[in-house]
Amino acid sequence: MLSCSQQRSGEGLILGVESSCDETAAAVVDSGHGIRSNVISSQVEIHHEFGGVVPELASRHHVLNIIPVIEAALAEADVSLGDLRAVAVTAGPGLVGALLVGLQVAKGICFVTGLPLVAVDHLLAHLEAPFLDRRGQPGFPHVFLLASGGHCLVGVRHGPEGMEVLGATRDDAAGEAFDKVAKMLGLGYPGGRVIDELARGGDPAAIRFPRALRGRKGFDFSFSGLKTAVKQHLARRGLPKAGQELADLCASFQQAVVDMLTERVEQAVECTGLSEVVVAGGVAANSHLRASLERAAAAGRWRLHLAAPELCTDNAAMVAVAGQRRLAAGKLADMATNAAPSWARHVG
Ligand SMILES: Nc1ncnc2c1ncn2[C@@H]1O[C@H](COP(=O)(O)OP(=O)(O)OP(=O)(O)O)[C@@H](O)[C@H]1O
Ligand SMILES: [Mg+2]
Repeated sequence: MLSCSQQRSGEGLILGVESSCDETAAAVVDSGHGIRSNVISSQVEIHHEFGGVVPELASRHHVLNIIPVIEAALAEADVSLGDLRAVAVTAGPGLVGALLVGLQVAKGICFVTGLPLVAVDHLLAHLEAPFLDRRGQPGFPHVFLLASGGHCLVGVRHGPEGMEVLGATRDDAAGEAFDKVAKMLGLGYPGGRVIDELARGGDPAAIRFPRALRGRKGFDFSFSGLKTAVKQHLARRGLPKAGQELADLCASFQQAVVDMLTERVEQAVECTGLSEVVVAGGVAANSHLRASLERAAAAGRWRLHLAAPELCTDNAAMVAVAGQRRLAAGKLADMATNAAPSWARHVG
């Protein structure tokens, strides 16, 4: 059972709840963006055999995991519900059945305790992950790159609320491209981390894969042509045997993605004249992308804020920070708040 004392600590502790895809997560974060707890129950093992997330399975496992995960987050932070200032929950975008689990549980907690409920945009939450870094917080305005499993956006955040999108993917997201290529190579799901690791021993110039929309006006991305190019390469040459051939293919594919992402960031910095860049989302954990952005930042004299690798993929600490922003702006949700699966209908 969740305990509920009525005492308030005044530390501005927020409980974040995340269930938009295949991670059930809960975290307690204080008003200084300090992480008191960050519990993540991943369903990767469950979806692995299907080569991608099965929505119905995801929802069912969220139902099983959500209360234990929240209890674990409260216990790890050594707080009870009564110590909290508010509950922040991802309302979208994501899988509707999965979102509803976190949202309904968060509503239930708020209904029983009287705590304020804050509904958070998952993409804005990803962009808050670098703010959990105690070494130096990003300032506003800044350029952002969000490269995750379902989205790829570049734009400007002028302040704590909302985002101005300069460009987005026209087809696959960057993480989706990693996952689809990994699936073609029989490397399982999700594919980003394993390609990252295999690519370390490979030659990124071994195969020249296309960089779509390069040199074109605008900030959009396209990754489906790259995915098709890998598919055609495999059709011509067959699946690489484990070893150098596989490492070279991974490194060459990864280099194409990294080039496209890095160039858009450089272009956005040049166009806006801004000097700070925030990069977040699962693909931001990629070691080669991180190194490429570090080099670009040094060359262009701008400041790079990368989310810590473990905070790039879905977690609830980032949801709690996004919730703090909305709470401070007085933007509260209510019991009628519904899940919003599509990003287009749910900006900021
Ligand atoms: N080291 C890595 N290199 C490249 N990609 C990675 C790495 N680690 C994780 N990823 C990719 O990140 C994605 C998961 O990130 P994230 O959790 O941000 O996405 P999501 O929540 O599924 O999508 P969205 O946030 O758009 O709804 C997967 O596609 C995964 O392959
Ligand atoms: Mg995500």
